[in-house]
Amino acid sequence: MPDRVLGGGVKTRVGIVGAGPAGLLLSHLLHLDGIDSVVIESRSRQEIEATIRAGVLEQGTVDLLKSAGVGERMQREGFVHEGIYLRFGGRTHRIDFPSLTGGRSIMVYAQHEVIKDLVAARLAAGGKILFEVKDAAVYDLDTQAPKIRFHHQGTVQELECDFIAGCDGFHGITRPSIPSRARHEFTRVYPFGWFGILVEAPPSTDELIYAHHERGFALVSTRSPQIQRLYLQCDPDDELRNWPDSRIWDELHARLATGEGWKLAEGRIFQKGIIAMRSFVVEPMRYGRLFLAGDAAHIVPPTGAKGLNLAAADVRVLSKALAAFYSSGDEEALKGYSAKALKRVWRAEHFSWWMTSMLHRFHDESAFHHRLQLSELEYVASSRAKAQTLAENYVGLPLD
Ligand code: FAD
Ligand code: DHB
Repeated sequence: MPDRVLGGGVKTRVGIVGAGPAGLLLSHLLHLDGIDSVVIESRSRQEIEATIRAGVLEQGTVDLLKSAGVGERMQREGFVHEGIYLRFGGRTHRIDFPSLTGGRSIMVYAQHEVIKDLVAARLAAGGKILFEVKDAAVYDLDTQAPKIRFHHQGTVQELECDFIAGCDGFHGITRPSIPSRARHEFTRVYPFGWFGILVEAPPSTDELIYAHHERGFALVSTRSPQIQRLYLQCDPDDELRNWPDSRIWDELHARLATGEGWKLAEGRIFQKGIIAMRSFVVEPMRYGRLFLAGDAAHIVPPTGAKGLNLAAADVRVLSKALAAFYSSGDEEALKGYSAKALKRVWRAEHFSWWMTSMLHRFHDESAFHHRLQLSELEYVASSRAKAQTLAENYVGLPLD
């Protein structure tokens, strides 16, 4: 449906702030239901397509991307993993997903590749994404005609919408536009971060390794047969210059050491970054005609690999609710959006907190706490019930 020009402004059904996974996928799902939208994004296309972030897609996210017609390259280039390894006390234990979850698995496929696929699909279908907008603001949220105002290519523009989707991530402008009396926020900040690197090296492992060690957590992931993704727990206020390559390798070798003959393949480190870790939820995920989705509404620490997947789950629920509204005028699903999304969000919040707490070293950790972590890891490795709890949350609970 073409945009309608009204009084100098542009009108669309759904105005979407943010071209991350949440905003782009929402725009695409709405398009499949014949609902027009405009996405505004503060960064350039190049920048969003090059930002290194998540890598693990739940089975439900994979199925959603496939059914939306944007899974073709993912199926060709992504890696299906049927388990993960937990490494602690110098030994490695495999959690087998299919046998514990009725045949489910995960896909390792980088978030920026998902972004590239979604941008390409939107533009090929004539979708409207405005890059490099500045000073976006949302208002009239509690009316039938909420608006987004922003600067684009040297002019001030106003987009009049039926609904606004706040998909602008944790540091965006939509959540703070909700009056503070109308939102309840829950936060937990962790006393550590992750130091992430990309390395030119062949895989050291066929599946991800999550390692518990008294020097701190480490994670071995992958991107391609030539590029590996590795993380190690660090001080959240640390700086990249304190981490010469030799120190990174020393720490990784120490934390991943095992007497099982396993070796970490080294290579040229070509990207480094430090990630802070927090848990955060805002309730409700709606104010008037503004709906929040993805990191704009919630953050999880990365240990459970849930952030991108939650963003996808949110917009699936939201797109269906909007489709129901436009096909029949029925607002019930829109009214239920926040509660439905939050149910999944809190499950993922708990899982991510649990994985984080079980695997990281805490500053003030007592020997008692360390023993409890080891006992819990032993239990996951030896009890089918506990392993199943990990597996079914990791591959993702069914979307409906
Ligand atoms: P974002 O990706 O943050 O997108 C928001 C977009 O809005 C951005 O492009 C931003 O530029 C734009 N924006 C912000 N403000 C404005 C504004 N004022 N105007 C216009 N545009 C604006 N999750 C997983 O599921 N699996 C993983 O393995 C995983 N690993 C991770 C590893 C790392 C290192 C990090 C940092 C995160 C990881 N995550 C993972 C989390 C995941 O990356 C996020 O949850 C995901 O990006 C959320 O998507 P989103 O679309 O909600 O927000
Ligand atoms: C990756 C990121 C995660 O947060 C995780 O738990 C597993 C893998 C990754 O970037 O590959």
